Amino acid sequence: MPVKSCTVLAVMADGHEVTTVEGLERDGELDVVQKGFVECHGLQCGFCTPGMLLTARALLDRDPDPDEARIREAISGQLCRCTGYENIVRSIRWAAEASR
Ligand code: FES
Repeated sequence: MPVKSCTVLAVMADGHEVTTVEGLERDGELDVVQKGFVECHGLQCGFCTPGMLLTARALLDRDPDPDEARIREAISGQLCRCTGYENIVRSIRWAAEASR
């Protein structure tokens, strides 16, 4: 479950598994959502990217084939001041299709 690190105290995570963006890569292989952001230019400055990637991973874990509306709903709590969201949505769709 994605949470905002700025509003969760470390003690609140006690006993829970915590995954950061660095934990998405496995054995030197990028996660498919990371590949999607590379393939579809889903980032510019990168400020929002860790949160977007973790949110995308969580979305695809519970809904492997989300439509655009579902993707936009999932990322709606995150602000991107650069991309206009179009390429982020395309990146997540790319990841969903690549996962089939
Ligand atoms: Fe710059 Fe999203 S890529 S804030």
